[in-house]
Amino acid sequence: MSRDGLPLGRAASPDDPLRVAVLVSGRGSNMEAIARAAARGEIPVKVVKVVADRPEAGAIARARALGLDVSIVDYRALGREAYHRRLLEEVEASGAELVALAGYMRILPPEWVRRFERRIVNIHPSLLPSFPGLEPHRQAIEHGVKVSGCTVHLVDEGVDSGPIIVQRPVPVDDGDTPETLAAKVLEVEHRAYVEALSLLASGQLVLTGRRVVRRALEAHGSTAEGSSSS
Ligand code: GAR
Repeated sequence: MSRDGLPLGRAASPDDPLRVAVLVSGRGSNMEAIARAAARGEIPVKVVKVVADRPEAGAIARARALGLDVSIVDYRALGREAYHRRLLEEVEASGAELVALAGYMRILPPEWVRRFERRIVNIHPSLLPSFPGLEPHRQAIEHGVKVSGCTVHLVDEGVDSGPIIVQRPVPVDDGDTPETLAAKVLEVEHRAYVEALSLLASGQLVLTGRRVVRRALEAHGSTAEGSSSS
């Protein structure tokens, strides 16, 4: 395998944390898991901004309770174009290096994705490429899979289609409903998202083709690649 690749994230440290903006639409439990891990010093990450696309999002109160800088950019009030312009201004003004979508239920337009190429990550509650889009837990149960899970991936111009950084499995039991499966997967999501950010803040991840791989330091100072999920 080639040793070259496009670097993802950077080598951050407690004194120079990776600056992350988190976009949310709903409850915000993933945002909270990231912010708490960062505040505990588990990962060299600083949540510099939380942006909610709707004023009703439960994530707003959660983020404020954590002392985070929150902006509400109301999609319905602004309309599509003005919304995305404003969102860009908020994220750029925050100095964020990475954008983390955490229960963000809108599709970012291609020009937005290009602007932050390889610097937007998302979490989706299925083992992609299975069950992208809406109602992944219902899709998984109706399909009859025995294992589902979650995926943290880079955002590209498609829907839930970008290169995979971390995946974690969750067994589907016979009695599971979309709701019970969602609850089991959500617990795993919180750890998976923190793990993905930890990798991105290690400076070791590179993108080769569609593969996100870890470039571990070798004893003699050169580099070798390993799987990012190892
Ligand atoms: C999470 O399960 C997340 O994976 C999912 O929404 C939930 C948000 O929960 N995201 C998507 O389905 C995106 N396509 P949270 O607001 O408590 O983090």
